[in-house]
Amino acid sequence: MAEIMRLDRFISSQRGDISRSDVRKLCSARRVEVNGSCKVRSDMKINAAEDDVRLDGERIEYKKFIYIMLNKPQGVVCSTRDGLSPTVLSLIPEKLRRSGLFPAGRLDKDTEGFVLITDDGELAHRILSPKNHVPKRYYVRLEKPLEEGYEQLFEQGITLSDGVKCMPARLERAESEYDCFVTLNEGMFHQIKRMFEALGNKVNYLKRISIGGIVLDEKLALGECIEIMHKEIKKING
Ligand code: URA
Repeated sequence: MAEIMRLDRFISSQRGDISRSDVRKLCSARRVEVNGSCKVRSDMKINAAEDDVRLDGERIEYKKFIYIMLNKPQGVVCSTRDGLSPTVLSLIPEKLRRSGLFPAGRLDKDTEGFVLITDDGELAHRILSPKNHVPKRYYVRLEKPLEEGYEQLFEQGITLSDGVKCMPARLERAESEYDCFVTLNEGMFHQIKRMFEALGNKVNYLKRISIGGIVLDEKLALGECIEIMHKEIKKING
């Protein structure tokens, strides 16, 4: 499929660390090649899907969209801008940065774990829409022990203190009576905290560990991220 665009736009869209004016300088310095020729201008039109574009001999692959798995630490907010706190976007290394990136779904400032960052609006919509039932799994540590029957209450749908009834969710017990895993198919504001509050308990620690069929990479330290390949992203829908 033809994806015709200017060379400078192509390079700067794929490489967040290179601006369009940088591309002009790189072309003059003969460091950019298109299909084997380094006699190129930054405003020339290329077919992004087919042409072979190289910088210093290294191929710049065309990716229409990018998908980044971040292990969000506490204290970081899931928005594109915030005057006071660092945002998830500030944790993306320069090489993966590009315009239009945003977090597909929010975690609270004090929640850790998997945030998917992308520039693919359609995918984000798919993940976030409750109609699509993309499950999100969380590890929860509670202030008080889990009581008998919590599993059934989650399965029936917890009613929050404001009267809103949650969709059925899954609760699985973990190592101790204070720990569990909760899987939600929707994402209301502070939902897990409010579900346990409605049961007279309190969440002391919360971490998202998967979105659909994609599990947070255990090797990722807090604040680190990796790119997820397109074929992996298809697992989102299970
Ligand atoms: N539920 C919460 O209460 N907080 C989150 O960040 C995610 C789910």
